[in-house]
Amino acid sequence: MNYRHSYHAGNFADVFKHIILIAVSNALARKESPYCYLDTHAGIGYYDLLSNSAQKSKEYVNGILKIMNEPNPPKLVQQYIDCIKAINPDGIDPLRYYPGSPYIARHFLRAQDRAVLTELHDDDYPILKDTFHHDKQVAVHHQDGYQALKAFLPPKERRGFILIDPPYEVQDELMQVGSKMATALARFETGVFMLWYPIKERRAIDRFHHSLKDKIKRPILIAELSVHPENVPTHLNGSGLAIVNPPWQLDKAIAEVLPWLWRVLSENKQGRHEIKTL
Ligand SMILES: C[S@@+](CC[C@H](N)C(=O)[O-])C[C@H]1O[C@@H](n2cnc3c(N)ncnc32)[C@H](O)[C@@H]1O
Repeated sequence: MNYRHSYHAGNFADVFKHIILIAVSNALARKESPYCYLDTHAGIGYYDLLSNSAQKSKEYVNGILKIMNEPNPPKLVQQYIDCIKAINPDGIDPLRYYPGSPYIARHFLRAQDRAVLTELHDDDYPILKDTFHHDKQVAVHHQDGYQALKAFLPPKERRGFILIDPPYEVQDELMQVGSKMATALARFETGVFMLWYPIKERRAIDRFHHSLKDKIKRPILIAELSVHPENVPTHLNGSGLAIVNPPWQLDKAIAEVLPWLWRVLSENKQGRHEIKTL
């Protein structure tokens, strides 16, 4: 396991993923009944943008910094900015801390909801555990995220939001992860599953969509945002989210923000954005 998210925290793909995460949280909060958030590949919870790793890659400059510099963001983006402000009590100029998916999801939980986080990396797990040490609504496990899909599903609440956000270090992990999500759905068929995937070249993504459609017989909403042309197989040109069992009107909430995000994040108007049902 070589992947360290601290090099990538706050990049364009994180921004896209985390804003849609908030849209799903908003949709789930429309009903009073509790839900469980499961984050299978949680990372460390939040990231110091002044750390050596973040400063070395500076990926956040073309991600969250572009968003923070933009006037009049849409309401959903403003919720995201407010969450970032909450983790930076000393102010956001300069921006120091960037929240990861566990922190953002936790920020939007209500008193009746809870979160389960799993992280396998030996160095990252203790940091994540420490981040939520005093939080009774959050359980943190040093565990394989795919095992977590078996261990923690279905949740006792029978309402759940599952984020699957692997580093894709293993060959063919994109195809494998679709099968794992299909198996998890068999355990918990009404869960809202959100799978993040990298976009390098288009043809590979088209194949992935076909295989998802074959394996999963539930509604799948696809949201994608690319900031470069999708034709360099070695480069992260964009990213996508496959959302199984999307909550009512999630597509509308995403469609309202996607053109704005693309305009702010794209490099010289390259790349594309799309929302569709598979
Ligand atoms: C893309 S990062 C997660 C970022 C995080 N979800 C966020 O949005 O802030 C992927 C994480 O998965 C961890 N990881 C890798 N393989 C794993 C596995 N099999 N089970 C659980 N975690 C794993 C890595 O250490 C890394 O922290």
